[in-house]
Amino acid sequence: MSTPHPPAGLRVIGAAEVAAQIDGNREGALAAVRRAYLAHASGATANPHSSFLRFPDRPSDRIIALPAFLDDTAGTDDPAGTEDGGRWSGIKWIASYPGNVEHGFPRASATMVLNDYETGYPYAVLEASIISATRTAASAVLGAEALLGGRRARRVGFVGTGLISDHVRMFLRDLDWEVDEFVLFDTVPANAERFAATLAADGPKGAVSVADDVAGAFAGCDLVVVATVAGTPHLTDPALLADAPVVLHISLRDLAPELILQATNVTDDVDHAVREQTSLHLAEQQVGHREFVHGTIADVVRGELVREPGRAAIFSPFGLGVLDLAVGGWVHDQVAAAGGGHLVPDFFPI
Ligand SMILES: NC(=O)c1ccc[n+]([C@@H]2O[C@H](COP(=O)([O-])OP(=O)(O)OC[C@H]3O[C@@H](n4cnc5c(N)ncnc54)[C@H](O)[C@@H]3O)[C@@H](O)[C@H]2O)c1
Repeated sequence: MSTPHPPAGLRVIGAAEVAAQIDGNREGALAAVRRAYLAHASGATANPHSSFLRFPDRPSDRIIALPAFLDDTAGTDDPAGTEDGGRWSGIKWIASYPGNVEHGFPRASATMVLNDYETGYPYAVLEASIISATRTAASAVLGAEALLGGRRARRVGFVGTGLISDHVRMFLRDLDWEVDEFVLFDTVPANAERFAATLAADGPKGAVSVADDVAGAFAGCDLVVVATVAGTPHLTDPALLADAPVVLHISLRDLAPELILQATNVTDDVDHAVREQTSLHLAEQQVGHREFVHGTIADVVRGELVREPGRAAIFSPFGLGVLDLAVGGWVHDQVAAAGGGHLVPDFFPI
């Protein structure tokens, strides 16, 4: 075994290089997320609960720390089979300030630190808002594929047409999903109109319409993406699920417990997702147990949990730090191998 030694410096990787890596290979990002879920299910991860920093006088704002360790080198049944795994530890530190949007810049900003497994030394800092949005969209689209049984949806509803929905759109496009039509709803109609224009110009192909109300973004859909900034449930009518769609409940707090309780529920990690006043947590508070959570996305991917026909399936991904590491580590390794980023050789006092 070689003697551990500190890294040669700290590599800083900015948004442009992160984006280039991801834009060029969303299939690779999806494979990294898939491997991370399977590694997590097999115990090859450490993923403590996220830590929420909140402010007494800024109730809408928060900064979240997500430390994690991921070892996906064990070879975890990757159908693409083309991407090498890695052994990464580190932390994502992500701020959410919804008011930023009114001033013309994004809600979320983030950094990721990667730490050397042998020495603990940090060796890279990455811009992580793109990594975060990418792993979120990849996990949702992986859930859609596993629950629908392929890359095909007849009618896709979007409730909330902001940044995360746009990343879902790019995954659907780059993964060659076949979609006949899209129907959009946003409480800010201009956002839905802008998203409609992006869909028409940039894909994926499919007819596009904007619904007058949220029911219109569920009616007749086999897939519904929910990515709003709602803090408490606003989707309360059980009839919304009448057409038994797969719902990607990315924003976690939109659905009333009544809707949760009538569906098949899938999450990424039950202990993580059934807390912090998520819809799953509210449902648990209502019924006094969590048996209504049927399993994890790893169970679905491995074929151990099969969706019940004629019943809505809701995927509520809490968003594990191991997913950030999977995508961030994958981006770093490829950028570093190409000599990219900015290396700060004298960063450490040694
Ligand atoms: N589960 C995860 O892993 C994970 C990861 C990242 C982000 N998120 C969540 O995804 C959500 C979306 O993030 P974003 O960056 O796209 O935000 P964003 O601000 O860019 O977009 C949100 C959109 O939702 C719209 N909206 C707000 N309330 C609505 C409602 N009641 N009905 C319909 N539309 C509504 C807004 O007008 C806006 O267009 C956030 O809640 C964020 O916390 C989840």
